Amino acid sequence: MARATAARTADPGLLAELQPMPYARRVSTNQDTESLQGRVAIVTGASSGIGQAVARELAGSGARVLVTARREERLTELAEQIGGMSVGGDILDPALPDRLIERACRELGDVDIVVNNAGVIEVGPVATIDIDRVCEMVRVNVEAAFRLAYCAVRHFQQRGRGHLVNVSSVMGTKVRPTAGAYSGTKYALEALSEALRMELAKTDVQVSCVEPGLVLTELHQRWPVHPTESMEIPTPLQPEDVARCVRFLLTQPSHVRIPRLMVLPGEHVV
Ligand SMILES: NC(=O)c1ccc[n+]([C@@H]2O[C@H](COP(=O)([O-])OP(=O)(O)OC[C@H]3O[C@@H](n4cnc5c(N)ncnc54)[C@H](OP(=O)(O)O)[C@@H]3O)[C@@H](O)[C@H]2O)c1
Repeated sequence: MARATAARTADPGLLAELQPMPYARRVSTNQDTESLQGRVAIVTGASSGIGQAVARELAGSGARVLVTARREERLTELAEQIGGMSVGGDILDPALPDRLIERACRELGDVDIVVNNAGVIEVGPVATIDIDRVCEMVRVNVEAAFRLAYCAVRHFQQRGRGHLVNVSSVMGTKVRPTAGAYSGTKYALEALSEALRMELAKTDVQVSCVEPGLVLTELHQRWPVHPTESMEIPTPLQPEDVARCVRFLLTQPSHVRIPRLMVLPGEHVV
């Protein structure tokens, strides 16, 4: 405020201070946001929930989208609806990431965007949690997500640009009793994302995490009491709310980076 007033009254000392640094590039903050028109995107876990909504959102904004998951019938139907393509597969298959990138490049063009979304949840108290299912979750949420992240970033580095969006969680920033292992998988994804962001700073390869709170998807469908009830969140996020956030991350002007974006239902407390 004081600086603005001084500028109006033309204080020569402060005016000099307000000049742009000689080494700083000035870009208009009103510049158009990046367009998704014609961009090529891969979305994992696209047979339901957040992944499906993200695929629709990106396709609706003009992107050409390759969707993947295991339930191929759903994928084929989605791909037809959005004018994209589908490649079925288990994210635990170590060959899948390269296959996805190769198929997308061959049939849609070089890949600009990877949304690393496939994930599962396993929670429970010490006495009853199923350790084998916990280990399976670690493989899907960490091992497979890391493998795809590295493959995607290598592809982006080769072509000089690209954006990796990792679907983390509010649980990637905090823990709750019974959910330590799930939180741990998302903390791991956050750690990798931040390290990659640092490695890739000053390039046009970007990495972001989106961190949703409770979203109404199939993720909790096996739970005896749904978290809408146990957490007293009768109005959870819809997958489309998260999809809009992903589009927001992907459409910023090129000098802007958003490493983390948390999105919560209005009723979220802890
Ligand atoms: N729902 C929430 O409250 C919430 C909150 C924060 C973060 N998240 C995160 O959001 C992401 C998406 O979850 P969602 O809520 O949309 O749940 P969802 O409806 O259950 O979707 C999970 C997706 O992951 C895919 N997937 C799971 N295991 C796979 C495997 N081995 N191979 C290939 N694909 C696999 C599933 O496809 P197939 O079964 O067809 O393979 C499905 O498309 C997850 O990473 C989750 O941790 C969810």
